Order: sequence, then C-alpha cells, then structure tokens
Amino acid sequence: MDEDMWLHPATQRNLGVLRGFGNLILEVAMGELASGLFGPGRMLEPEQILAAIEAKLLGKQLLAGKKVLVTAGPTYESIDPVRFIGNHSSGKMGIAIAKACSDAGADVTLVLGPTAVQVPPSVMVVRVQSAQEMYDAAISAFATCHLAVMAAAVADYRPASVAQEKIKKAGETLTLHLVKTPDILKACGVFKKADQILMGFALETNNEAENALKKLHEKNADFIVLNSLANADAGFGTDTNKVTIFGKSEPPTDLPLMQKAAVAEHLVQMVARRFIDLKNVQF
Ligand code: CTP
Repeated sequence: MDEDMWLHPATQRNLGVLRGFGNLILEVAMGELASGLFGPGRMLEPEQILAAIEAKLLGKQLLAGKKVLVTAGPTYESIDPVRFIGNHSSGKMGIAIAKACSDAGADVTLVLGPTAVQVPPSVMVVRVQSAQEMYDAAISAFATCHLAVMAAAVADYRPASVAQEKIKKAGETLTLHLVKTPDILKACGVFKKADQILMGFALETNNEAENALKKLHEKNADFIVLNSLANADAGFGTDTNKVTIFGKSEPPTDLPLMQKAAVAEHLVQMVARRFIDLKNVQF
C-alpha cells in the first residue's frame, strides 16, 4: 500500500486492535512504493515472511545463534555506607526482554542493577550496583554481542566521593556534590559495528517524541523505545507497558497497552527482521 494508507489512523488503529488480541503483525517494509514515492508500505520480502511464519508455526527460534546483552534495573550510587541515590525502576521490562531473547534461542547476558524481581535460569546474570559497575560489565559484553538492549534506569549523577562513615545529621540543609556517570548506551553507540543492533529506552515526561528522537541520533542507537508515564498501567513496577518505538528509517510504531512480556516479544520479532535485512546487506 502507499505510505498514506499505512499511516492512516484507521489502519493504525485497526492494527492496534489486532495486536491487542495477541495477533502477530508482520509490518510493511520501507522502500520504493508503487506510486514512485519512498516510504513504508512495501510487502515484506518473502524470506522475511517465511522466517516469521516458521518461527510462529514451527517454533523455530528467531534469535538462535545470536548473543544478546541487556541492561536492566536501577543503579544505586552510594552516599555513605548506609545511603544511596536510586530510582523506582524494578527491572521488569529489561528482564522480560532478556527472557524473550532467551526463549527465541539467544545467548543472553543480563547486566542487572539491584532488584528483587526473579530472573529466568536460562539468562546469565551479572549483578551490579552502580552506574560505573554497570558500564564496566556492559562494555566488556558489548564487543561480542549481536544485539544490545539498554533498558536500565542508570543514574546520571553520583556523589563525587563516598563518605567512609555514616554522615551524621547536622544543620538544616545538606549539600551533596554530584558528578556525571558514564553513559553506557552512548558509549556503545560509539563502538557499534554495522552488523550490531543497538536499542535504548527513553522515559520522558514532556516533548516525548522529540526527546526520544534526539536520544536516537545523539546516542547512535538503531531503536529507541519510548516509555509512557501518561498511562496509569505503564511504567515503574507494573506488569504492563505502553511504548512507542522510534527507528532511524521508519515511522514510529505505537503499541497499545500490553503485558511487558508481549512488548518484549514484539521487540524480538522486530530485531529478528532487522537481522535478516542486515544479512542481505554488503558491508
Ligand atoms: N543510559 C545509559 N547510561 C546512562 C544513562 C542512560 O546507558 N548513564 C541509557 C538508558 O539505559 C536508556 C537511554 O540511555 O536506554 C536513555 O536513558 P534516559 O534516562 O531516558 O535518558 P538520559 O540519557 O539519562 O537523559 P535525560 O535523563 O536527560 O532524559
């Protein structure tokens, strides 16, 4: 179909309804359209359709032979031996992605910040506390992975120094001097090779789409998954999520409110299609 038909709210809304029923949607491809315009609307290549049908009907594993790195959860930045700066991330979305990748046959390393959420035994977990520890573990795994998904809520700043003893209460105010932590996604974007897929997340409260696109380009990611806090059932600690996926060469995909496990499966199918595209491209 032509781009305007594909992007028409009626088409997109109906696709959302079908997705909500749990149907697997094989989306259109980008490229030259019958009208002569360039955009989304082409039929997928037959081998992409075949791969998706095989995966669905024969249980063929979409990510067999692939190495995947996932970061998830919060980071804790120590202030003194008893206190830290943290955030509300539970790690559920990242753990769901690690599980979906592992179910799809990938060899998964999950670099996980502090959380009590269970991790399936098929996933190799590296437990970390701080942003620096997460950076060190993620960068060393990134070099050999085919797909990296940065779903962690990494602290952007940490105390410049950690007090050796518990800071005693004194005075009406306390000032902490904070310094920037390394940006893991951005560093991976710098090292990224042409056949690696890099996916980041974004949590925004205003100018959501604009900020997500800015992160996509500034961090050299292939995809940014925008989390919405606008929906009461999406965000920290919930089992459901409402996301929009931004890619470099395709229009954003709005998913309806779904279980985090279903969002994770959608992401796996999307990257599996991208791997087929990459295989057909000469670098
Ligand atoms: N991220 C990261 N390392 C950091 C900070 C963020 O890897 N030190 C990654 C997150 O895992 C996520 C993406 O970058 O995939 C965006 O994170 P987010 O917190 O939304 O954005 P920031 O880059 O931290 O910018 P800001 O807080 O200003 O929105």
